[in-house]
Amino acid sequence: MLSLLPIRFGIYFITWNLSITKFHDSKIGYLCNFQFNIMDNEINITVIDREGKAHQLQAPTDMNMNLMEVCKAYDLPIMATCGGMAMCATCQVYIESDQELPEMQDDEEAMLSEAFYVEDNSRLSCQIPITDELEGLTVRLVPED
Ligand code: FES
Repeated sequence: MLSLLPIRFGIYFITWNLSITKFHDSKIGYLCNFQFNIMDNEINITVIDREGKAHQLQAPTDMNMNLMEVCKAYDLPIMATCGGMAMCATCQVYIESDQELPEMQDDEEAMLSEAFYVEDNSRLSCQIPITDELEGLTVRLVPED
């Protein structure tokens, strides 16, 4: 009796696994997955690269990341030479949507006053923490030096 236990467990596991797969393929399963994604603390951000191609990024709001780090994680061409210290401006982006961003601090403002290609909607992406309020944010990468 005891020796049959692993076999019974194996059958149970396979059956359970198949039912889970069917559940995820169903419409209700899809909706549940959608709900889980919202609960996963992720927001959607669009980054337009220098060729005009839009990249859809999912950014976690619970990992203390900033926009520059998310762009780097997706291998987008942002240099971020200073590593996020607001000292290089190689992470500059243009804000193309109207989400309310955190107010610019003195060091960011000072850096942007010396940088190239600065426009009214310029921000240093390393100074923009990923928060729920940024859902749907669209930014464009500045031209390269
Ligand atoms: S990474 Fe250097 S200013 Fe943002």
